[in-house]
Amino acid sequence: MAADARELAASFDLDSLTGEFCLDPYPTYRALREHAPVKRLRNGSYFLTRYDDLVTAYKTTRAFSSDKKKEFLPKYGDTPLYEHHTTSLVFNDQPAHTRVRRLIMGALSPRAIAEMEPALIALVERLLDRIAEKGRFELIDDFAAAIPVEVIGNLLDVPHDEREPLRDWSLSILGALEPVLTAEQSARGNRAVREFLLYLEGLVARRRAKPGNPERDVLTRLIQGEANGERLSEKELLHNCIFLLNAGHETTTNLIGNGLVALAQHPAEKRRLLQAPELIRTAVEEILRYESSNQLGNRMTTEAVSLGDVTLAPGTPVTLCIGAANRDPAQFDDPERFDITRIANKHLAFGTGVHQCAGMALARLEGAIAISRFLRRFPSYALDGKPVRGGRVRFRGFLSVPCAVEG
Ligand code: HEM
Repeated sequence: MAADARELAASFDLDSLTGEFCLDPYPTYRALREHAPVKRLRNGSYFLTRYDDLVTAYKTTRAFSSDKKKEFLPKYGDTPLYEHHTTSLVFNDQPAHTRVRRLIMGALSPRAIAEMEPALIALVERLLDRIAEKGRFELIDDFAAAIPVEVIGNLLDVPHDEREPLRDWSLSILGALEPVLTAEQSARGNRAVREFLLYLEGLVARRRAKPGNPERDVLTRLIQGEANGERLSEKELLHNCIFLLNAGHETTTNLIGNGLVALAQHPAEKRRLLQAPELIRTAVEEILRYESSNQLGNRMTTEAVSLGDVTLAPGTPVTLCIGAANRDPAQFDDPERFDITRIANKHLAFGTGVHQCAGMALARLEGAIAISRFLRRFPSYALDGKPVRGGRVRFRGFLSVPCAVEG
């Protein structure tokens, strides 16, 4: 067993992942944490799996840069994908990051988020009504994926009849962040950036001509900037709108989908939540920890750094494995157990430090409302076939989950 784990850790590489790994990466993550927590990959980059090492990388921004200009040039060439990913705030260091983040955080204020709640509840109830009529349904398409696209659409006030392409654009652009890219994936990603930019140029022009209420409409707020005169350039504005639309999309779909599947597969935990609905808060945190929708993050060292007995040279790309850190026994008791009452659950699903997810309050609200209302309406929902994984490594979720409910 120990020899198997050692072999699993020794042979691990991001460019040769198997279908088995995509279904259940956790045995590999455990083997890596135990035998090669700072694992050198064939291309010279490193893969980190220990909780404490991830916290160090997230919090030591001087030594672990988020700027991806160097790393993404060979991956994307001089393309729309390159321009997009290197302009979005998540892949920049200060001062560009700080300026854009301040504007976005101002637009995602607790008040702005609280104002979204009634529309979110109405949307979830509408979807549940439709599911009740159907009886048999597809959990991802009919429910989990239908929520974030509307929420982010509302956030930027994208007209309802213009929202249809958003999900596909977003999946294509984020798909291009996978560790290994096919020519077809990169062509699809580039096409999506081009089409998305064209669409947003029109939307921004319309909003400039007829501004919305900056308290509620994040796009108007980003266009107008802060009272102190801080503004985004046109390029920053467009790419960060794309980023916002993407960031909250697949991740939140996966939170809802992963949560409802995990509860169906752990009937005792589902019963506890049904008996004590107020546990939804800790349940959402546990879902985020146990099946983190965003499994990988990236940094590049800017100076020599030591992690345990390994020293990384300056200029080393590093992958931060959130999925592994969130099951590190040095941080979490009995980490392989799905426990919806877990407390002191300081998971890294939203990262930590200066880049910590700007939309986490919104994601938590969406997760709590969607999952608790679904359970309340359909306490005996059941999987109606085998859930199919999305097949991605960075974003962990399901492509389809056939389900059945009694009307
Ligand atoms: C379950 C849902 C979500 C998960 C798991 C998630 C995860 C993350 C993670 C791990 C990061 C940090 C990346 C890094 O440091 O490398 C991040 C950043 C970010 N997220 Fe989320 N996210 C979610 C939902 C959302 C939503 C709903 C929004 C917006 C409405 C959003 C907006 C952002 C933004 C703007 C950043 C960049 C922050 C920065 O670089 O300063 N996210 N997210």
